[in-house]
Amino acid sequence: MRAVVHDRYGVPDVLRLADVELPVPKEDEVLVKIHATTVNRTDCGFRSADPFISRFFTGLLRPKRKILGSELAGEVDAVGAAVTEFAVGDHVFGVKGFGAHAEFICMRESAPLAHMPAGMTFEEAAAVCDGAILALGFLRRADLRKGQKILVYGASGSIGTAGVQLARYFDAHVTAVCNTKNVELVRSLGADEVIDYLQEDFTKNGKTYDVIFDAVGKHSFRRCRGSQKPGGMYAVTDLGFLWQNPFLALWTSRIGDRKVLFPIPRYTKKDVLFLKELIEAGKYRAVIDRCYPLEDVVEATRYVETQQKTGNVVLTIDGGRAR
Ligand SMILES: NC(=O)c1ccc[n+]([C@@H]2O[C@H](COP(=O)([O-])OP(=O)(O)OC[C@H]3O[C@@H](n4cnc5c(N)ncnc54)[C@H](OP(=O)(O)O)[C@@H]3O)[C@@H](O)[C@H]2O)c1
Repeated sequence: MRAVVHDRYGVPDVLRLADVELPVPKEDEVLVKIHATTVNRTDCGFRSADPFISRFFTGLLRPKRKILGSELAGEVDAVGAAVTEFAVGDHVFGVKGFGAHAEFICMRESAPLAHMPAGMTFEEAAAVCDGAILALGFLRRADLRKGQKILVYGASGSIGTAGVQLARYFDAHVTAVCNTKNVELVRSLGADEVIDYLQEDFTKNGKTYDVIFDAVGKHSFRRCRGSQKPGGMYAVTDLGFLWQNPFLALWTSRIGDRKVLFPIPRYTKKDVLFLKELIEAGKYRAVIDRCYPLEDVVEATRYVETQQKTGNVVLTIDGGRAR
């Protein structure tokens, strides 16, 4: 099969298309023919080995796992003898740490994989899981409840667009912060209020929040403190400029009434099924910025690394396919 591989860490140009062995499903696995996948910030971090600490998971000197790609949507091509949930021809979507930048992938039946929501294209379904499951983990960890006030900073990214929609689903009052060009989009995702950060600094308007969700990791606990209610949470997706956020999370868990949250994300099948339900109820949609064919993975990756994408960037394989 064709796959995008990388033999060393570095700039997007280390990615290349290659012929690799077709995986064979084990007893409890399904073989999925992938029609669409994404390039996300996790792929970029693993490829560039930035932060360095990621090498402890991906290989100290060179990548142990040569095929990146976590999200996928496609068609079941073969099933192992013990598989009961899926059959050949089923349309599925899901997420796995590595291996989705390829024509085929094997996943366990119990993995974060589910039947595709009705009426979704492969491109849309591929762009659901990563941002949404990460955002879900943060909102749950912050114990976001009905009527609470949340501010989502970086509301136009993959995690941010998911965070706005999920916070809305949890019946919180959502203030989204983004650039002028994305104001209408985040409003359409359900934000009650939108702050254009080019016009207004939310830390100076005197308003306070139960949860500040820094979905792009560009803000800081220090600057947000004055906008947190007593007992408020600052949930952040990035390590921080000086890798301070995990330490602040530990420190504030014991000291002070304003907390920092830096949860370790986990993809689960339960969450994929939850998102499928939300999508079918019309309460969630994947925001797609651009689609590229798999062959243009280097260009797609360069675009993702501008850190300016709106929502998600999709890769289609053999032209993807409408459902
Ligand atoms: N904790 C984890 O496990 C985990 C996993 C994956 C990713 N991450 C981290 O989470 C962060 C977000 O990931 P993502 O995939 O959602 O990112 P993304 O989609 O690449 O975010 C891009 C968006 O961020 C906005 N943005 C960029 N700079 C900004 C700034 N200074 N202020 C406000 N908005 C800004 C951009 O909007 P504008 O046009 O307004 O600039 C753009 O729409 C990344 O830092 C990534 O490394 C963490």
